[in-house]
Amino acid sequence: MKAISYHHFGNTDVLQMIEESKPSVESNQVLIKVKAVSINPMDWKIRKGEMKLMSGSKFPRHTGVDFAGIVEATGSAVTDFKPGDEVFGVVKNNMKDGALSEYVAVPFNLVWKKPAGINFNQAASIPIVGSAALTALEKMGKITSQTKILVNGATGGFGMFLLQLLREKGTHVTAVASTKAIEYAKKWGADVVVDYTKENILTQNQTYDIIVDLSGKMEYAQAKKIMKPKARFLNVAPQPIEIPTSLLKNLFTGKKQVMVLSSPSIKYMNKLINAINDGLQIEVSKVFPFDQSVEAYKYAEKGGVIGKAAIEVS
Ligand SMILES: NC(=O)c1ccc[n+]([C@@H]2O[C@H](COP(=O)([O-])OP(=O)(O)OC[C@H]3O[C@@H](n4cnc5c(N)ncnc54)[C@H](OP(=O)(O)O)[C@@H]3O)[C@@H](O)[C@H]2O)c1
Repeated sequence: MKAISYHHFGNTDVLQMIEESKPSVESNQVLIKVKAVSINPMDWKIRKGEMKLMSGSKFPRHTGVDFAGIVEATGSAVTDFKPGDEVFGVVKNNMKDGALSEYVAVPFNLVWKKPAGINFNQAASIPIVGSAALTALEKMGKITSQTKILVNGATGGFGMFLLQLLREKGTHVTAVASTKAIEYAKKWGADVVVDYTKENILTQNQTYDIIVDLSGKMEYAQAKKIMKPKARFLNVAPQPIEIPTSLLKNLFTGKKQVMVLSSPSIKYMNKLINAINDGLQIEVSKVFPFDQSVEAYKYAEKGGVIGKAAIEVS
C-alpha cells in the first residue's frame, strides 16, 4: 500500500510517498481503508522535531493522526464493527503513529461510527480538535452567561469546535480572527469579533474571565494584562517544563494558567457525535488529493485555513 513517511525531522521536503505492506489486524484491532486524513498543527510540530521529548526520535515515521474510512476487516475480539462500516478514528499513539496511508489498523476503542450527515473529510476532522475543545470547556470550570471568554485564534480547527460548544453554554465570547474568517467566527457563535490584522486585543480596554490562546502568539505574561483578578488562561500547547512550574505558581496568584492536554475518548466522541447530529458544523475549507500530501502540508503550515484542511486518500 502507499503511505506518507519520513526519515529525518524537517520541513515538508522530508515527506515521501512510499510503498509498504498493508498492516495485519490484531485481535482487538480494526483494519480500515482510509478515505480521509485531516491536518493538525501537531503533525508538523512532531515532524520538525519540536516535540522530541514526547514523540521520540525513531525513524521511519508516519504522519497524520485522525482519519475516516471504511472497515475492511476486524480482529477476533471485535464485536462492535463489521466490514463496510463507515467510521472515523485516531491512531493509537498520536506522538508516534500516523494514518496518512491507504490502510490503517487501530484498536477498536479508538474508532467510532461516522455520523450519517457528514462526509469522510469532516469525520476525519473530529477527534483531535473536538476532544481538545471539550477538554478546554472542562478546564474553564463553572461558566455562566456572565462569564466573559476570549478565544484568540478562533477560526482554525480547535476554535471551530470551541466556539460552537460555547454557544450552547450561552456565555459571552469574544473571538479574535483574521479578516477573511470573521463571518465564520460570527456564524459559529462569537458575540464580538476582533480582526487581529487591524486591531490589537491587548489594547482594547476589555478584561476577561477566561482566555484561550489557540494562535500560539499570546504569551501568558501578555494575557495577564487583560485578565480579571481571578481569571484563567488556558495554555493549549504547553512546553513540558510549564506543566509543573505553572502548578506551583498558581498556588500564589489569583490569575491561573491552566494546561489543556487532551486525548480522544469514547465519552468525548459520544458528546461530539450528539452535537454534530444536533447541528454542530464542521467546515473543511480545503481538500487535497493523496498524491498532493506535501502541498497540503505546505498550505496548512502557511496559516489561513478556516476550520480544517484534509487529504482525501481514496
Ligand atoms: N492540547 C491539546 O490537546 C491540543 C489539541 C489540538 C490542538 N492543540 C493546539 O491548539 C492550537 C490550535 O490548534 P488548531 O488546530 O485550531 O490550529 P489552527 O487551525 O492552525 O488555528 C490557529 C488559529 O490561530 C489564528 N492566528 C494566527 N495568528 C494569529 C494572531 N496573531 N492572533 C490571533 N489569531 C491568530 C489563525 O488564524 P489565520 O490562520 O486566519 O491567520 C488560526 O485560525 C495549536 O497550537 C495546536 O497544536 C492542542
